[in-house]
Amino acid sequence: MDRMNFHVMTLFPEMIEQGLSTSILGRAMERGLISLNAVNIRDYSLDKHRRVDDYPYGGGAGMVMTADPVVRCCRAIQEKIAGEGRKKPRVIYLTPQGRVFRQSMAQELAQEGELIFLCGHYEGIDERALELIVTDRVSIGDYVLTGGELPVMVMIDVIARLVPGVLNNQESPEFETFHDNLLEYPQYTRPELYEGMRVPEVLLSGHHARIEEWRRRQSILRTDAVRPDLMEHAVLSKKEQRFYREMRDRAET
Ligand code: ADE
Repeated sequence: MDRMNFHVMTLFPEMIEQGLSTSILGRAMERGLISLNAVNIRDYSLDKHRRVDDYPYGGGAGMVMTADPVVRCCRAIQEKIAGEGRKKPRVIYLTPQGRVFRQSMAQELAQEGELIFLCGHYEGIDERALELIVTDRVSIGDYVLTGGELPVMVMIDVIARLVPGVLNNQESPEFETFHDNLLEYPQYTRPELYEGMRVPEVLLSGHHARIEEWRRRQSILRTDAVRPDLMEHAVLSKKEQRFYREMRDRAET
């Protein structure tokens, strides 16, 4: 089985290491299923004070990360990868000005054996560095964070759990949220009666086909209620399409 290697260029490598080394991903690293290499961009500054930022040309608030440390850091990682005989990986820059990250993008990126991520800080990075090294610009959502570190941790967490062997239970991805573009159905465990609320009868029936139908219908109801935008792309059987149409007709009358 091939290991998936993640490289992160950042001014705060400890934040990435600490954030991703516990729980499921920590265990996946110990087992050699994934690796994490957090590299400090500051180590590639040639400035005698190790500076990595400067004032923006044209004026304006804040500081901009200079091109040279970022480009040199990236080339050092790329040379190491080439030296070990592997192919040149994609370089992903985390920015609100990117394509929005979704489960489908994670599935696509999980097919790559290796990825390099670039975290920005301050008011951004000199555009020329980005033009030289970046292959993809990705946003994790329509809001602004103080840097790319939390977004990169989100991306690595989502991608790593798709790497074979990282989750114990490899049957789960096909039953979870976003499969067929639907949200997941509600789950229950013991006790059967809690503060006057019963577990839905069908789940105690032992009737697998009926349970499966009930779960799919719950998924459809939930998705329609909170994420109608996903319903347009939902993958439904003929019978489920009929259920959904009837449900909507009832809602309209
Ligand atoms: N950096 C700051 N905000 C971000 C976002 N929403 N996604 C990715 N990187 C970011």
